[in-house]
Amino acid sequence: MTKTIFLIGFMGVGKTSLGKKLANRLKVPFLDTDDLIEQKTGISIADYFEKNGEKSFRNVEKELLRNYNFKDSIVATGGGLPCFHENIKFMNEKGITIFLNRPAKELQQRLVNAKKQRPLIKKLSDDELLEFITFKLDERLPFYEKANFTLDRNNQTVEEIISRISELD
Ligand code: S3P
Repeated sequence: MTKTIFLIGFMGVGKTSLGKKLANRLKVPFLDTDDLIEQKTGISIADYFEKNGEKSFRNVEKELLRNYNFKDSIVATGGGLPCFHENIKFMNEKGITIFLNRPAKELQQRLVNAKKQRPLIKKLSDDELLEFITFKLDERLPFYEKANFTLDRNNQTVEEIISRISELD
């Protein structure tokens, strides 16, 4: 496995958790665009949104994607990253993109207790959260679906995922 793998998909789908397992198993570095942005800016993503707004955050994501050396790593990307600035096109040119998918209801259950650090959802009630996820997922699917392949996180083990990735090499 010698190519960069970008994991894309909605907040809470499990990009970080799968990414770490894959990286560990394939013995390659694991990177997370949100972590890299926090390191670069010196503040949390939530604080960055608060101070500078979403538009500025999308520019930071764009610059990071184009300037950081992601070579031969597994990269978990922020949920909105593929949907701005032709980032999905860029990632498809530079590596393999994998869209992790889960139904909206399941995302809601996974996000209820993880809202605080996520600026786009931190103020929503549980019901509003489901509405937001349903709406946003619909808006973002056309971008996510441009990925090289889609994984349903419920149905596949890490070993099965690795064997699919190896076939692409
Ligand atoms: C965002 C997802 C977050 C983070 C930011 C915006 C989004 O990343 O980049 O809060 O627009 O969906 P995760 O998908 O890792 O939560």
